[in-house]
Amino acid sequence: MSRLLLVSNRLPVTVKSDKDGVSVVRSAGGLATGLRGPHERSGGAWIGWPGDVSRLTPPQRASVEAQLAELRCVPLHLSASEVSRYYEGYSNQVLWPLCHYFIDRIPRQDRDWDVYRKVNERFADLVARHYQPGDIIWVHDYQLMLVPAFLRARLPQARIGYFHHIPFPSSEIFRSLPHRAELLRGLLGADLIGFHTHTYVRHFASTLMRLLGLETVVDRVDHEGREVRLGAFPMGIDAQAFENLANEPSVLEEVRVHREKSAGQRLVLGVDRLDYTKGIPRRLLAVQRLLEREPAWRGRLRFIQVAVPSRTGVADYTSYREKVDELVGRINGLYGSVHNVPVHYLYRSFNEKQLAALYRAADVMLVTPIRDGMNLVAKEFCAARPDEDGVLVLSEFAGAADELGDAVMVNPYDMDGLADALEAALEMPQEERRSRMRILRGRVKEYDVHWWVRSFLDTLEATPGAPPRVEPA
Ligand code: ADP
Ligand code: G6P
Repeated sequence: MSRLLLVSNRLPVTVKSDKDGVSVVRSAGGLATGLRGPHERSGGAWIGWPGDVSRLTPPQRASVEAQLAELRCVPLHLSASEVSRYYEGYSNQVLWPLCHYFIDRIPRQDRDWDVYRKVNERFADLVARHYQPGDIIWVHDYQLMLVPAFLRARLPQARIGYFHHIPFPSSEIFRSLPHRAELLRGLLGADLIGFHTHTYVRHFASTLMRLLGLETVVDRVDHEGREVRLGAFPMGIDAQAFENLANEPSVLEEVRVHREKSAGQRLVLGVDRLDYTKGIPRRLLAVQRLLEREPAWRGRLRFIQVAVPSRTGVADYTSYREKVDELVGRINGLYGSVHNVPVHYLYRSFNEKQLAALYRAADVMLVTPIRDGMNLVAKEFCAARPDEDGVLVLSEFAGAADELGDAVMVNPYDMDGLADALEAALEMPQEERRSRMRILRGRVKEYDVHWWVRSFLDTLEATPGAPPRVEPA
């Protein structure tokens, strides 16, 4: 079996240093949580950024390096300027908003491109140093779109896959990037380019046509004498592991406590990174709308929103946090009582057991992003419901909507529609809840993360690969 070299901006663990010392904690976000299992099972390495280690003392740094080595993680350290310009700048202030259709959030000046390019080159150099013939290289996500071509230049014969974890936008949006052609050529260094949905594949193929004049035939495109394949591989979760967790006695005890604390009330849940793509303000406004127009729900509804801090160095995330804080305060001020508030807002990371208990205790799960590549939270919720209960309310703008058609589907831009859907979910008869959840769970369990990894890697291994290099006579 080939060794797998995973390459992503963020490692599955991140170094955190505060007044209590240094720790290595698991990273949040779909990419890290999804690939953690496959990495543990493969004998290869994971190359990526471990977070800021600049303030660590030499012994602390040595201890971190040892912990990373134990996990087969190879760190690529970023300088403060690289964090600000490659990670916060080009990746998260240009590519992230662009791919999620927030084009007006992109800064007017394209000043971080050079650093983005340089860091992508550094990644390629480090991967090339760890590469052994026969390895499979799997590059992940928008922070590293140039890495496949840089790798192809260094390792012409290597088998290289790339997966885009976020939406690929319409060509009309993508073409607004000044460096659009370089980014596309960067991706075309791969043998296989994967997306979560057929829509993203279609957008990518039409972008190749319009911007580079390259025609995709079925799922193949010729580029510089090589064949590059495109495909839709909807990412799954480790559904069995989540279900096992949700059945653990300590989790069931926590579920009991949640239910006891919400006696006489219905429990509505939201779990997200605190990101402006997740639609948290609109979700809160829908809760407010329901309480405003249906006084019968006042005091009978408890909405728990868990938001994990994310990209706090980027101004748009700071102002988004303020907006959420303000809305929570407003709704609780309007509809709370001395004994109770409708919104319980927790701005922190939860461990998997705590999440599983919340998922299992919830009556309704609100997953209502404005735009989302896939959204694994929706799948985690279904996996954590072996009791076949609970209603998933899902945005039609999440990649997961393509697969989870038995959720209550919503348009997050339609506030009244969202409030209607929440009410319908709260009032759904048990029989309907059960039949929908059964189908959702069937899908999540069959197309899990193992299926995803297998189908991507099988396709990658079946690609023709680069033609052998002709050595000069
Ligand atoms: P994204 O990748 O944009 O963050 P996903 O829904 O695909 O969105 O993945 C989010 C991942 O992060 C999930 O695995 C989820 O369990 C985890 N997560 C989300 N919120 C929290 C939280 N408050 N605490 C811990 N983990 C979280
Ligand atoms: C999304 C992206 C990932 C990213 C994660 C967390 O899932 O697709 O590439 O790692 O968010 O964001 P962060 O910026 O903290 O790595």
